[in-house]
Amino acid sequence: MIYHARTQLYRVSSEEIEPDVLRLASEILHRGGLVAFPTETVYGLGANAYDAQAVENIFAAKERPLSDPLIVHIADIDQLDEVAMDVPLLARRLGEAFWPGPLTLVLQRGKHIPANVSAGLGTVAVRVPAHPIPLALIRASKVPIAAPSANRFSRPSPTTAQHVLEDLDGRVDLILDGGACPIGVESTVLDLLSDPPVILRPGGLPLEILQGISPRIRVRSRIMESEQDGAVSPGMLLRHYSPNANLIVLNGTPSAVCRRMHSMAIDFISQGKKVGVMVADEEASCFTDLSVVVQALGCGNKLDQIAANLFAAMRELERYAVDVILVGTFSLEGLGLAIRDRLMRAAEGQVIEVD
Ligand code: TXA
Ligand code: MG
Repeated sequence: MIYHARTQLYRVSSEEIEPDVLRLASEILHRGGLVAFPTETVYGLGANAYDAQAVENIFAAKERPLSDPLIVHIADIDQLDEVAMDVPLLARRLGEAFWPGPLTLVLQRGKHIPANVSAGLGTVAVRVPAHPIPLALIRASKVPIAAPSANRFSRPSPTTAQHVLEDLDGRVDLILDGGACPIGVESTVLDLLSDPPVILRPGGLPLEILQGISPRIRVRSRIMESEQDGAVSPGMLLRHYSPNANLIVLNGTPSAVCRRMHSMAIDFISQGKKVGVMVADEEASCFTDLSVVVQALGCGNKLDQIAANLFAAMRELERYAVDVILVGTFSLEGLGLAIRDRLMRAAEGQVIEVD
């Protein structure tokens, strides 16, 4: 059954969070309701992590399969032992180095965390978000908050309160609008129970930076693999983050990609299709002679800009009701791995190699 609620939305300043709003949010969590809030990565849809019924409400609101585990958000590394057990030394070192921040650690699930948080697994994913609103909410409510991204299942992740409202109006009790999320892609999920530790989902904290603490950390890249062979992290399913349009990735040098995108756009238009393109600012002028909807993502070598605008651009193109979205690739360094991963999922594996 879908979770029904009357959705309230409050604008919240990160500098000064009104005590009344915090009290309301905290009360909602304590009675098993759902509160959406910004984080440094994307908006989250939160419930009291100790309340199995509230956690069930999250799955119902998102229409998310019960097999896809949630992330538990805590306010401080000192809370780690309340939600996880047998915490390895490396987890503490990584937490000291990168929390609060866009890093999620998969550990042994603590006794007080209900099984449905982790989709029945013996593990739990934990992070400390680097955003004053969820930190204040966790402290005020005095409970850890289980929260997936606040989108409907398989939709692009929300980076503004408006995106949350689009997907979850009537399915969340309260949305705390703290403006746009600065990073724009979700946290890096690192499995510390495997040896060597493996990144299940590249995200806001780059591989190279994690390897600065532990050079053994690897990436499990299932980006191109089929979803049939049983994903370790169900969020790694290929079909994910999809906008309501046919998204095609073109991989190659920027100039070759731009030429091919231009000729493909002409072909699609001649078939009566409405075309959107997502490009670096530098390439936006290549399309002025065509009637396509252009979303400029930022400077092509400033991957933080590309990441911050990626999901919002997909949603914006949906608003124009495009049939096809064409997008090039960017470097794989730093945030580039997360950007490539999200693009490949949105494209459901449709990639054209361009020379
Ligand atoms: O940045 C983020 O991580 C955001 C904000 C709200 O914190 N949250 C987020 O949650 O992206 P969600 O549920 O959309 O993605 C969580 C990912 C999924 O890929 C899920 O499969 C994986 O983490 N995950 C959660 N618990 C896990 C576990 N116990 N073992 C393996 N993977 C797990
Ligand atoms: Mg998600």
